[in-house]
Amino acid sequence: MIGLLTAIHVVSILLWIGGVAFVTIVVSPLILRMEGSLKKALFFQGVEHRFSRIVVTPCILVSLITGVTLLLLTGEWKTLFSLSCLGPTVMILVWVLYVVILFSERRIFRAIFIQKESARIETVFRRLTVFHWFILGLSLLAVFVGVLAAHGGIL
Ligand code: HEM
Repeated sequence: MIGLLTAIHVVSILLWIGGVAFVTIVVSPLILRMEGSLKKALFFQGVEHRFSRIVVTPCILVSLITGVTLLLLTGEWKTLFSLSCLGPTVMILVWVLYVVILFSERRIFRAIFIQKESARIETVFRRLTVFHWFILGLSLLAVFVGVLAAHGGIL
């Protein structure tokens, strides 16, 4: 059961973080190079909205259900937020951050669409690209620490 749950958990993480990596590495630079503020904003909204509805939201739910069940089955919940449970602790922190971002999505889109000058929209997209790299870095750190800790690489 633990093996099956871990496999489902990892597949959901792969889809989700793989998608974030694609948006950060491939889509974001393409948007920055696009001509026209409205075109940029609409394309960005289309990609982010579709990605979060079809991939991120279901994967967030699947990883929560499988992750919490794994914590309960392995008894690791007792040591949560301590060094001996570093992997799942970092995972939970990253998971919470994504949920906060998902709930602020509307506010982010509003901030982009409110900008009338193309210089300002350019700044917003540059900041968004930096933010994408930051969140991707944290996600990869969670995967790295999670696998390292689960296979005796830390303690
Ligand atoms: C509510 C959120 C989450 C919970 C409760 C959770 C919990 C767990 C647990 C208990 C395991 C089994 C391995 C172990 O005991 O250390 C695991 C495996 C794993 N998790 Fe999470 N997780 C969550 C979210 C995430 C996120 C956001 C990521 C990556 C960004 C992630 C990446 C992984 C990976 C790669 C493994 C496989 C480790 C291995 O066995 O090699 N998890 N998770």
